[in-house]
Amino acid sequence: MRHFLDIADLSTADLKAILADAHAMKAARKGLPKGALDVGPALPGRALAMIFEKSSTRTRVSFDMAIRQLGGSSLVLNAADMQLGRGESIADTAQVLSRFVDAVMIRANAHEDVAEFAHHASVPVINGLTDRSHPCQIIADLMTLEEHFGDLDGLHLAWVGDGNNVAASFIHAAARLGFSLTLGCPDGYAPREDDLAFATNSGAKVELTSDVNAAVAGADVVIADTFVSMGDADADKRLADLAPYCVTEGLMAQAKREAVFLHCLPAHRGEEVSAAVIDGPQSLVFDEAENRLHGQKAVLKWCLLP
Ligand code: CP
Ligand code: NVA
Repeated sequence: MRHFLDIADLSTADLKAILADAHAMKAARKGLPKGALDVGPALPGRALAMIFEKSSTRTRVSFDMAIRQLGGSSLVLNAADMQLGRGESIADTAQVLSRFVDAVMIRANAHEDVAEFAHHASVPVINGLTDRSHPCQIIADLMTLEEHFGDLDGLHLAWVGDGNNVAASFIHAAARLGFSLTLGCPDGYAPREDDLAFATNSGAKVELTSDVNAAVAGADVVIADTFVSMGDADADKRLADLAPYCVTEGLMAQAKREAVFLHCLPAHRGEEVSAAVIDGPQSLVFDEAENRLHGQKAVLKWCLLP
C-alpha cells in the first residue's frame, strides 16, 4: 500500500513511472467516449472516497472519471456533512472509511490533517490539495510539458507570483527531475523555507528572486496561479502586493519566443494573468486540465497496484 501525499516522497523512478503510465493510458483510450471503460481496465471493483473541505471542479471530476474509466466507482463526501465536521476524530474516520473503500482522496485545509488521516488509514490516501502542496496537479503539469517538449531535461520553468502550495509541489518535482525552476515572488510571498531547503539539499536547480523579469528571462515555461488561494484571508493586500507579478504579454515576451504558459486553474483574468496570455497561442491550460484525468489514473494505479 502506498500513500500519495507529496511529490517529495516519491523516488525519481516512481515519478517517471507515474508519468509514463499516464501518457500510455491517455494514448490507449484515444477515440473512446469519455464515459467508456479503458480497454482492460486496471482497477475493476475498486471504490474511491473523496473528501472535500474546500471547493473543487477539476480534482473532483477528474478523480471521479478516472476511477470510472479504470473500472471502479467513487463516493464524493463533503467534509462539512460528515461527522468529521461535528468533531469526530480524523483517526476514527480514517479507520472507518478504510473498512468501506479501497482508497481515499482528501482535499483539506491543513496538510497535517491529511498526514494524520494517512497514518491511521489502512488503504492508500491521496493528497488532493492542502495548504502546503498540490502533488496531483504537478503530475498533470509535468505530463503536459512532456507532451509539448518531449523531455523535461534542461527546461527552464519560471513560477511567477505567490510561492504557494502549487509552487511547493513544483519545487519538490525539481528535486526529482532534470529541469530548472526560478521562482519570481515578491518579499513576503516566498515559498516555505523547508521546501527551498529540501530542493537545495537534493541538488535541485531552484532559484528565488523578487525580480519578475529576471525570473522569466529566457524561460521555456511560465507558470502562474491565483494570488488568493483557498483559505487566504488577506485578499485585498495580496492582490495589491502581487499585482506587479501579473503574467502579461509583455512579461511573456521576456521568456523564449516559443515559451508556453501553464496555470492550474481556476484563473482570474486581469489579476495573475492577462486574458491575452491565458487565452492566447502560448497557453496550454486546457491540455493541462485534461491531463489531470490521465495523471489521476496513474496515481490511483500507483497506489493500488504497487
Ligand atoms: N487545479 C485544481 O485543482 O482545480 P480544482 O480546484 O477545480 O480542483
Ligand atoms: N493555489 C490554489 C490552487 C487551486 C487549485 C489554491 O490553493 O486555492
